[in-house]
Amino acid sequence: MSNSIESHLVEKRVFKPTREFAKAARIGSLADYRRLYEASIKQPEKFWAAQAGELRWQQKWTKVLEWKPPFAKWFLGGKLNAAENCLDRHLVGPRRNKAAIIWEGEPGEKRTLTYHQLHREVCKFANVLKRNGVKKGDRVLIYMPLIPEAAIAMLACARIGAVHSVVFGGFSSESIKDRLNDSGAQVVVTADGGYRRGQTVTLKQNVDHALEGNTAVRRVIVFRRANLDIHIEEGRDVWWHREMDYVNATCPPAGFDSEHPLFILYTSGSTGKPKGILHTTGGYLTSAHTTTKFIFDLREDDVYWCTADVGWITGHSYLVYGPLANGATCVMYEGAPNWPEPDRFWEIIANYGVTILYTAPTAIRAFIKWGDEHPAKHDLTSLRLLGTVGEPINPEAWMWFRDKIGGGRCPIVDTWWQTETGAIMIAPLPGATPTKPGTATLPFFGIDAAIVDDQGREVGPNEGGKLVVRKPWPSMLRTIFGDKARYKKTYWSEVKGCYFTGDGARRDKDGYFWIVGRIDDVLNVAGHRLGTAEVESALVSHPSVAEAAVVGRPDEIKGQGVVAFVTLREGEIPTNDLKEKLRKHVGHAIGPIAKPDEIRFADALPKTRSGKIMRRLLKELAGGGSVTGDTTTLEDLGVLAKLVKRDE
Ligand code: WT7
Repeated sequence: MSNSIESHLVEKRVFKPTREFAKAARIGSLADYRRLYEASIKQPEKFWAAQAGELRWQQKWTKVLEWKPPFAKWFLGGKLNAAENCLDRHLVGPRRNKAAIIWEGEPGEKRTLTYHQLHREVCKFANVLKRNGVKKGDRVLIYMPLIPEAAIAMLACARIGAVHSVVFGGFSSESIKDRLNDSGAQVVVTADGGYRRGQTVTLKQNVDHALEGNTAVRRVIVFRRANLDIHIEEGRDVWWHREMDYVNATCPPAGFDSEHPLFILYTSGSTGKPKGILHTTGGYLTSAHTTTKFIFDLREDDVYWCTADVGWITGHSYLVYGPLANGATCVMYEGAPNWPEPDRFWEIIANYGVTILYTAPTAIRAFIKWGDEHPAKHDLTSLRLLGTVGEPINPEAWMWFRDKIGGGRCPIVDTWWQTETGAIMIAPLPGATPTKPGTATLPFFGIDAAIVDDQGREVGPNEGGKLVVRKPWPSMLRTIFGDKARYKKTYWSEVKGCYFTGDGARRDKDGYFWIVGRIDDVLNVAGHRLGTAEVESALVSHPSVAEAAVVGRPDEIKGQGVVAFVTLREGEIPTNDLKEKLRKHVGHAIGPIAKPDEIRFADALPKTRSGKIMRRLLKELAGGGSVTGDTTTLEDLGVLAKLVKRDE
């Protein structure tokens, strides 16, 4: 055997789709999946063209793919409108009066928007954007709570060819500031506030701070959600509801080039500066539509609930574009899963008869901790399919999800993908793929995923390596906004000719992909990416800090926790009070999810002779273990000895 690394953690449980589920599913057997997969890999353009054909095109494409590595263009010459595909298409026939969005606010308000109503709101808001000078290609920054208006704002941008950039409502003013500067957005759509765990989040106030000294933003449109007393800047800020009074509901959807930008979404990388991931229209929508249809095996009468916020890619592809392009009924819930009680999710499922639940492993681990009595109180028998995304799911959490939520009856689709991939890449097909707890299983149609070594050669079963994709796919990111060089370097230089995901993985003897985690300096905290460099630069921006090194350590609920090793400037005194100040400082600079779980003061950080911080050693320390790895490249062994001592 040539295997260098073999995994000893072998998961033996296998769950086949039930006959009943398989019979009703689009793809009902593993043999069918394999046959279609082979065909889709032999002729990806044929597969994707057939899928794209299910959308409404105002003008058909003349060429399916132009691949000038690493730049792809899909459906060239085609023209379409993403909002038309998500809305207008469903207005003829019975979907017209079908619920598109069933929303619940955290305090308990309930609203349902049919396709007809959602279409009307989107058309009106598109006219509001136009009235406020927004034109095709302009960037619009959206900073909203999880309310229907967030989706309405996104779709209104799409309708007029403006490029939305949604910033998660949990991010700070500093984050908004950076994203405004990078995207060049001149219009911001926000709300006075939103609700989270019984508190109000002061969204408009955060926008005000972000706009101090900013002269580029000329309009802020404010939705009234929380009745907060807010500042209105004359000549710049306008109320959403007032603007809606000035417009009518007629806004014909213009056709845009397939490669017209649809949105920019910022995500963390291994440097301090977030990357503006750019997605375009035809390819993105094709992948979002196709994956939603097959992987959630959507039925006309499904009540589909994706618990992600619109601030993340999951909220873009599987709360808005994918399900609405399929004419689905989507549940949207504004608040925390444990407000007012830890059974809020299960109450929502019972109330609306949710049939598909798509959520995150970190949430599942929190539910386990809160206790089985909470789901047990509610009737969850409407559920027929479960899904997870964001990080590897540990087999215990997977089994709990299956038993306690799915009643042992529902298939689980563990879906691997990224902000950059735009749509799900590796996942079971629920009627076809036998599942094993902890693996996202097999690649989706048309996705040529592989695991390779440093030389780019595919490795054997159970050997670890880099997860790459060898062929372009329609929803592939097109570039990093304004930074082609970084796009090439980050994704296309690590492994020749392949898209590099940044993840390490192995395939088992059945070809199933087991994702081990990031191999770059990126953390995965509660299913969200966080660059260690981002947190470090936030720490170093504090006047007391000289140097900082941030590493992850295993965390029972969040998957990974953040540990920061910090050296202080001359004369600064290491106190607990300062630790708290630094945590707050990071929260202020990035957002609460980035706050270090632990800060350790050190006299010096372990470095190589060339001055690189040896994170590997810090990681071992942060994880509670002793340092076992190679320390021969360490410049000063004394530094490490001191850090270890401190630990005891
Ligand atoms: C990274 C992407 C895609 C939406 C949510 C996160 C990790 C994601 C899985 C999964 C194992 C996963 C990877 C990936 N990841 N899903 N099912 N199993 N790992 O999007 O912030 O772009 O992060 O999340 O490490 O690279 P993102």
